[in-house]
Amino acid sequence: MSSDNRTPAIIARNLTRKFGDFTAVDNVSFEVAQGEIFGFLGSNGSGKSTTIKMLTGLMMPSGGEGIVAGFDVSNNPEAVRGSIGYMSQKFSLYQNLTVMENLRFYSDVYEIPINEVNSGISGIIDRLALHEYKNKLARDLPAGVRQRLALGVSYIHKPNILFLDEPTAGVDPSQRRVFWDWIHDLSASGITVFVTTHYMDEVEHCERIGLIDKGALIALGSIKDLKIETAGGLPVQIYASGKNQKLEIPNNIVAEFNLTLVQNKYKAILKSENKLNELKSKLEASGLPFKVALELPCMEDVFTLMMKSGDAR
Ligand SMILES: Nc1ncnc2c1ncn2[C@@H]1O[C@H](COP(=O)(O)OP(=O)(O)OP(=O)(O)O)[C@@H](O)[C@H]1O
Ligand SMILES: [Mg+2]
Repeated sequence: MSSDNRTPAIIARNLTRKFGDFTAVDNVSFEVAQGEIFGFLGSNGSGKSTTIKMLTGLMMPSGGEGIVAGFDVSNNPEAVRGSIGYMSQKFSLYQNLTVMENLRFYSDVYEIPINEVNSGISGIIDRLALHEYKNKLARDLPAGVRQRLALGVSYIHKPNILFLDEPTAGVDPSQRRVFWDWIHDLSASGITVFVTTHYMDEVEHCERIGLIDKGALIALGSIKDLKIETAGGLPVQIYASGKNQKLEIPNNIVAEFNLTLVQNKYKAILKSENKLNELKSKLEASGLPFKVALELPCMEDVFTLMMKSGDAR
């Protein structure tokens, strides 16, 4: 790779794609650090796959810039394609080949050295629990297994960056664990994973997320950052630590932190973690036995609110 380990693995700057008069991806900018799991979310037709196709060198941007693994997607798409793995949203497997035959076929396509093919394939078979399906035709596999095989195929040449377009689409919640366990392992070993999903509960697996709506990026950040942004700060509750105890916070602290007393609990929206730490140390200094709970909104609420404010623009 032509970059050191601080260079972002993926950079999009004002990335734009038009189809005639229609703008499918509109001035989208973000960066993904090496080894990060970046979740890209949005409803049907919002522009996720089009963004991925531009960043994987499969579709030319109409404007802006994409740099992946240090290569420009417009000027050097072959170098980009050679540095990444890509699991497309559409079926990428050969239906009339078995699981093993698909893995061997793609090992050939990626010119994996002959002495590494068998160990590479068994690694994938083991990690993605494909043993019992080895000799089954791809077209006869249950949806979850088929997606697992497609995921394995995208990693057959051990790229440093993986683009996964809805890898768990149609997969049973109980089976999605295998995907995410593997994605976490890959990320822990330094591999960057750019992944799209429709499932809100999967967002929690991502270190940072981008939310795209009608081609525009309307939110970007860590889950905690987005929750804080939506709540307008850190919503906290402070209450007595003992079961039947009542907490009485001195007036000067109540006034300073704008605390409101609701049914034996003090509530406030604090501007930052620093403010929260300040409040905690003042309460500790006053010798009162207390507990603090954060009341951050759930991701579902975050998205609903962000989509609504997107509509208002
Ligand atoms: N080749 C094309 N020609 C014309 N319009 C296209 C083309 N590819 C995509 N579009 C349009 O661009 C928009 C974004 O499509 P895209 O496939 O990127 O969305 P998506 O977020 O991946 O959706 P989904 O969740 O359904 O996969 C859609 O309105 C789609 O119809
Ligand atoms: Mg798509």
